[in-house]
Amino acid sequence: MQVIIFDDAEQVAEHAAQWVSELVENKTNPVLGLATGSTPISLYKKLVERHNEQGLSFKNVSSFNLDEYHNIDPANPQSYRSFMNDNLFSHVDIDVANTHLPTCTSEQNPREQGLNYEQAIKDAGGIDLQILGIGANGHIGFNEPTSSLVSKTRIKTLTEQTIKDNSRLFKADEHQPDMAMTMGIGTIMDSRYVLLMATGENKADAVNDMVTGALSAMCPASALQMHENAIVILDKAAASKLEDKGYYQWADKQNNKLNQQYGLYHNY
Ligand code: PGA
Repeated sequence: MQVIIFDDAEQVAEHAAQWVSELVENKTNPVLGLATGSTPISLYKKLVERHNEQGLSFKNVSSFNLDEYHNIDPANPQSYRSFMNDNLFSHVDIDVANTHLPTCTSEQNPREQGLNYEQAIKDAGGIDLQILGIGANGHIGFNEPTSSLVSKTRIKTLTEQTIKDNSRLFKADEHQPDMAMTMGIGTIMDSRYVLLMATGENKADAVNDMVTGALSAMCPASALQMHENAIVILDKAAASKLEDKGYYQWADKQNNKLNQQYGLYHNY
């Protein structure tokens, strides 16, 4: 796991945008794994800027989102489909037909929908770069604590903490879903690269558990310790509980030197 600590959230977003741009510019049919939540909004802003100002094109990109609420109308402003349209898809040249979310209506069988989503990811060639946030409880996607570390796309019941954390986004009279379809931890682990963004002090404990804690279903993000290419990008606040900050900063300098000498090597 590579841990990179930046001064602020702006730099985290810039670094993430750099990763996405490199993939999109260098691979013929790039497959992006995308996330919703507050953290990646700044990344999507930067991607839209790069599209408008530098011609970064998403024409050949396919995308798979981590999760979607169960039985939500895509047109509902609270759906993750709406979130993605509003924050990214409507502002760039991506073909919306190539953008996927793990949807499931009450008439559909969640198990079949999960299998279909897994198959669609395989058919697209697998995810090259999965963008992730992390929940204050260590969840990735909606893989809540005690999720199987080898799980695949399925329906999950959200924890009280997640429902509470997300309640800020719902008006008092608005229905807040308590179930969601989510890629599994195994699905995320199958991505070629994983880029986890975390900012703010409320993520510091979860980040510390993920990076230095035991590999445990109680902290789903700790599964990334077993990923060959997991990059964790943090602002100072999210890194504040890590003991070995000096080492991560030193290793990052060394990596930058190696990159300058040998060029970046991303094996997509
Ligand atoms: P946030 O959510 O970016 O809104 O903090 C992250 C997550 O729950 O995965």
